[in-house]
Amino acid sequence: MSLPACIAIDGPAASGKSTIGNQIAEKIGYLYFDTGVMYRAITWMAWQRDASYDDEAVVTGLAESVLIDVRPPSVEDGRDYDVLVEGKDITWEIRQPEVDANVSVVSAYRGVRAALTAQQRRIGQRGQVVMVGRDIGTVVLPEAELKIYLDASPEVRARRRYEERLERGEEADLEMILENMRRRDKIDSTREVAPLRAAEDAVVIDTDDLTIEEVVAEIERLIRQFE
Ligand code: DC
Repeated sequence: MSLPACIAIDGPAASGKSTIGNQIAEKIGYLYFDTGVMYRAITWMAWQRDASYDDEAVVTGLAESVLIDVRPPSVEDGRDYDVLVEGKDITWEIRQPEVDANVSVVSAYRGVRAALTAQQRRIGQRGQVVMVGRDIGTVVLPEAELKIYLDASPEVRARRRYEERLERGEEADLEMILENMRRRDKIDSTREVAPLRAAEDAVVIDTDDLTIEEVVAEIERLIRQFE
């Protein structure tokens, strides 16, 4: 048997999806694709254009018309990829608190999801990809041979985000991050379209008491079962 063509990794914010997905992709020579970047890029565009995040028609129009480009990293500043929109490098802009606070509203819109899901499916169907998000195993690539759902408590996830920000030399407030995280979890998991949940055939890994290395080792073990 050969390795699974697509590996889907879903889970809430700061469950470790990005770091772990990236490491797995590197180990097996697959493309790493973080789909949250696309929802963040649309949120950033709406912010730049002073559009109201509540204006579903305008925000959906952006998702349908803007080309989001994700490429291998061109700068060595800790990034895993470049994110470009209309020729501008927005890799770090999309990590700002303003985007964090509004991306859940933007990503709940049906039209936004339809536009971005179509792009993600095209990339996934080429194979050899580790795709990370909220609805990869349930909606984007339900045919993925290996589906992982990474979970962790809000407290542990908020602390991880807090430490990431401090490491980047940014200001951070743990309580605010936790509050924001709970609010986002609620919107992401109760939205009508493609809510955050584990696919029925996903392997659920609780990462509260596991190191990144331990989670990566467990996923590698699951991948090797296909060989
Ligand atoms: O993983 P992240 O924090 O970068 O994701 C940002 C937001 O995008 C998150 O609040 C939910 C949304 N998202 C989504 O709805 N579906 C995906 N496949 C990926 C992200």
